[in-house]
Amino acid sequence: MTDTNKHSLVIYPGSFDPITNGHIGIVKRGLRIFPHILMAVAHNPRKSCLFKPEERVEMIREVLADEPRVDVESFEGLLVEYCRRKGAHAIIRGLRAVSDFEYEFQMGTMNHKLAPEIETFFMMTGEGHFYISSQTVKEVASLNGCVNEFVPSLVARRLREKFSEGEAKTRGGRK
Ligand code: PNS
Repeated sequence: MTDTNKHSLVIYPGSFDPITNGHIGIVKRGLRIFPHILMAVAHNPRKSCLFKPEERVEMIREVLADEPRVDVESFEGLLVEYCRRKGAHAIIRGLRAVSDFEYEFQMGTMNHKLAPEIETFFMMTGEGHFYISSQTVKEVASLNGCVNEFVPSLVARRLREKFSEGEAKTRGGRK
């Protein structure tokens, strides 16, 4: 990779548990500005996620299979160290509402303190997506609600499978 390419690599980190239409909107709009986006799925063993890191990576790869300029990987540890290893100097984060701001501001400032050479770019979530979060999508899906409007169909299917597996296990356990 040439230096110019290295400097144009941007990392879009997140839990993506699971990826939603809001994340996809950020990626698609980000590609208008950045030539290449590396989506970095955080693997934090202390955080309990519904999907394993490899499942989250696989879903993103499938959903964004038509975007050759998007790569997907999981990472562990500090985000800024991962960016350094990758030679990336920029991070993208989506901002939905004012309520996201404090968390993002803290995280962006901490990352900047740790690695002043790495800039964080905030993108406003599209107006059709500001109410969508992985958390609310999981809650709706867990209660058998329809999430087709908020996530790609493949993700909606995986959510249904995940929650029916859970139910089957609970039923099994109750026997
Ligand atoms: O989608 P999320 O859960 O809001 O993403 C948060 C994420 C993964 C970007 C953040 O937790 C992170 O960067 N984790 C890696 C560990 C790290 O670098 N922490 C210091 C940031 S203050």
